[in-house]
Amino acid sequence: MTIFTVANTKGGVGKSTTSVQLSTGIALRGLRPWLADGDKKQTSALLSLTNRINAGLPGIPATELSDGPTLRAQVKLQAPQYDHTIIDVGARDSGALRAALTVTDVLVVPFAPRAYDLWAYEQMIELVKEIQEERDIKVVPFLNMADPHDGPGSDNATAIADIEAYGFTVAPVRLGNRKAIDRASAVGMNVMEYKPADEKARLEVSNLVEHLLAITQE
Ligand SMILES: Nc1ncnc2c1ncn2[C@@H]1O[C@H](COP(=O)(O)OP(=O)(O)O)[C@@H](O)[C@H]1O
Ligand SMILES: [Mg+2]
Repeated sequence: MTIFTVANTKGGVGKSTTSVQLSTGIALRGLRPWLADGDKKQTSALLSLTNRINAGLPGIPATELSDGPTLRAQVKLQAPQYDHTIIDVGARDSGALRAALTVTDVLVVPFAPRAYDLWAYEQMIELVKEIQEERDIKVVPFLNMADPHDGPGSDNATAIADIEAYGFTVAPVRLGNRKAIDRASAVGMNVMEYKPADEKARLEVSNLVEHLLAITQE
């Protein structure tokens, strides 16, 4: 049983998208996920997963828990009933983030080239380091909405170098900016379920899910 927290103090970097792809990816592997949604926004992972139920697909349990102390208590109580728990923390809510970090095993940090600000990272990293003094949390930053242009000096490379300068290793998996990922996530589908099939998106998402599940085996 692993508790994943998907967080980044910056909004719009793909936290809810990642939460939907991870929870649906876990379900497609025959395991039982539970999504704890700490974000009340209209574009939340919870709403996407509700769209999924309404579309007649196999449902994935999800609960809105946006208040820090409630999130912490409910996750402690309910997570043992599932194989994996995914907490989608809203941006800029340090109370919910702190609460999530006190119960989480793996912190997944999507970040996008250009769409980041180092000041926001510094606050989050300070919080992570403070909590790591008491609990061992694996921190897994990965590049989301990666540019097709790669290589030294590219926006991808600059973003990765900025994160690694804080002492974290960026995951060897990434997601491109793909319509299939956007559209599938909006309706609570994994890209594996979404038609028309986008093979590149499928491979990227499946590599991300496998990478995160492999961490739970370590
Ligand atoms: N890999 C991706 N490819 C295409 N669109 C993406 C991708 N990741 C996120 N998006 C889109 O970017 C927007 C912000 O993503 P979202 O997951 O809601 O961010 P957050 O939860 O961090 O605020 C959404 O419209 C989402 O569909
Ligand atoms: Mg979100």
